[in-house]
This record gives sequence, structure tokens and C-alpha cells, in this order.
Amino acid sequence: KIVPVLLCGGAGTRLWPLSRKSFPKQFVPFTGGETLFQSSARRLSGDVFDAPLVLTNEDFRFVVQEQLSVYRIQNQGILIEPEARNTAPAILAAALHLAKTRPDALMLVAPSDHVIPDALAFHKAVAAGCKAAAKGDLVTFGIKPTYAETGYGYLELSSVPVAGDLSPIRLNRFIEKPDADKAERLVAAGNHMWNAGIFLFSVQAILEAYRQHAPHMVPLVQASVDEAKRDLDFLRLQQEAWSQAEATSIDYAIMERADNISVIPFSAGWSDLGGWDAVLRESGLDENGVAVSGHATALDCSDTLLRSEDEGLELVGIGLKNVIAVAMPDAVLVADASRAQDVKLAVAELKRKG
Ligand code: GDD
Ligand code: MG
Repeated sequence: KIVPVLLCGGAGTRLWPLSRKSFPKQFVPFTGGETLFQSSARRLSGDVFDAPLVLTNEDFRFVVQEQLSVYRIQNQGILIEPEARNTAPAILAAALHLAKTRPDALMLVAPSDHVIPDALAFHKAVAAGCKAAAKGDLVTFGIKPTYAETGYGYLELSSVPVAGDLSPIRLNRFIEKPDADKAERLVAAGNHMWNAGIFLFSVQAILEAYRQHAPHMVPLVQASVDEAKRDLDFLRLQQEAWSQAEATSIDYAIMERADNISVIPFSAGWSDLGGWDAVLRESGLDENGVAVSGHATALDCSDTLLRSEDEGLELVGIGLKNVIAVAMPDAVLVADASRAQDVKLAVAELKRKG
């Protein structure tokens, strides 16, 4: 069985003011009743999956536990990172932990903040990658790009995928977060897909990849895992060695360097909800492209998102075009929709001002 490894340590600042450092987007019910974290955990349950291993930090440990228990999802452990070091150390810690408990397992590493409406299609894609993963490949999932996003990784494929064919395709090159010009060129080239940020590999293959491409990280994270302290369901990684591990993502540390990567094209819906523009695209829009939620009303608006999470605050938009407005009890965001990605700059500015 495949062990799902759920990452939920990111702060999700681009969805401020709904997503906060203290309560990031994966734990917020976005569209229906369940949170992105809950739908991710549910998507990764069923016959082929084992109980998930969750990686998070001190602040979110009880939220994780509670949100899983609502759906009676058992877990294989909740690893607590003493501080956020990005995904490379986190995934290595998961692999080293599983090397002790499930050394022969395949692990499916997944973010907990994506939207994938068709779980069945996703399961088929995962099944299609198992053979390659079992023989030692690092398997990634490719999404057909629709515009030149600079916040994603790009997968240069050795051949152009045939629609509906789920066979693994050899990767030529992995390009993490290109600049805007390069992203334009990659999308135009036709043999590139977006990296979905979901990975399938065997515990042994990914450990070998770290030994090869990020050797400095291995002994530090190993020490941190070996000296981890158990506390109820939680396993607290040891701080001292952990904080010395390089803070970098698996994309830069491993994927850009490895030469044993296969890609499964995934053509059903996928969104990383990486900003309010993505939320707007994924929302149930009316015929003018307007999404309202909570205590909000739109009159003669188009391509606009209005959302008030505060019962005492009615948000009304009149004649707006291409606007995002999000009201919380203590903060209001009003932005041109084309500048949605700059919300993270605003958060940084607020942080600077204290
Ligand atoms: N446990 C833990 N610890 N999780 C983390 C940490 C950490 O230190 N840092 C980030 N995460 C989680 C985030 O919460 C998210 O679920 C996932 O790991 C990916 O991190 P992001 O910060 O969202 O990465 P990204 O979106 O910039 O880029 C990745 O995803 C893109 C697709 O959404 C890359 O893999 C890109 O190549 C990819 O295109
Ligand atoms: Mg992301």
C-alpha cells in the first residue's frame, strides 16, 4: 500500500487576510464545508492507500488532529517540525521515518492545499505511476499549462503527451519557478507541463536521491529523526540538527538535479489556489464572472470576487471590474485582480511595519 505524506506547513500568505500565519489556507473551509486539508486527506484514502503521515509544525498540530478525526481518518504519525525549513528537509524526514517503519513502501507526497475535484481520475494517475516508482523512478504529475505562471515548476518532457494516455513520460529537465519571459517560452514550446507538486517514489529511491544531490542534509535530518521525542500522536523532531538543515524546496534540492524522473500527465482539474485570482477561477461564477460569498453583494460587477467573513460587515460592490475584495473582522483587502500575486508583498510590508 502507498503511504500518503501530507505536507501542511506553509503559511499561504497570498490568500491574506483569510489565510493567516496562525491559520493558513489549508485549514480554512474554502468552498464547501470541508477544508482543503480534509479533502486532501480524504482523496488519499481508500484501498490502495495506507494511513497518512502528516508533516506540520507546533502551531497546527491540534488542528491537524481534529480535522482528521472529524472524518475518522487514522494517521501513521504526525511529525512536528521545530521550525519551517521548506519541503526538502520535511520530505527527507518523512522518508527517514518511514525507512524505520515501512522501508519497502511507496510514498505519495502531496500538498494539503490543492483542489482536485475528481478523486477517481487522480487515483488512476497514481496507479499509472506505481510501476515506475517501484523500479526506482521519481514520479511527478504534469498539468497542461494554460498561461505563463511563474509560481510553478515546469516539466520539460521528452515527448508530447497524447490526450488520455497515462503512461509515464521521461523528463528531460525540471525548471523550478522560471521568470516571466522564460515561462512564456516554455508554455509556447508545447512540450512542457506544470509540476503539480505531488510526488510518488519509493522510500529507498528518494533516500538515494538525497544522498546524491543533497548529501549535507542527510546526516542532519537523520539525527533529528533519530532523536525525535514522542508525545501522544506527535513525534517532535529534534531541534538542533533540524535548524542546521538547509531551508530549500524539494524542487530545487532534488527535482532540478535528478535524472530518473518520470511524469504522469494529469488532465482532470487541478488548482493550487495559489492566490485570490486562482480562487476566483475556481469559484462557482455567475455569467458575469462574479463570485460572492459570505456577507457580500455585487451589483453590475464583472470578473470580481467579493467575500466577507464577518457577520457584522456587509460588503457591497457596484460596477466593479476585475476586483478582489475580502473582508475579515480585522482586515480588508481590496485589490485589482491582476495584482493578486502581490498580496504576499503586502503581507511582508505589514510584517515589516509590525
Ligand atoms: N510540513 C511542511 N513544512 N510543509 C511545507 C513547508 C514546510 O516547511 N513549506 C511548504 N510546505 C507545504 C505547503 O503548505 C504546501 O502544501 C506544499 O508544501 C508546497 O509548498 P509551497 O510553498 O506551496 O510550494 P509552491 O506552490 O511555491 O511550489 C510547489 O508547488 C507548485 C504547484 O503548486 C513546487 O513543487 C512547484 O514546482 C509546483 O509547480
Ligand atoms: Mg503551493
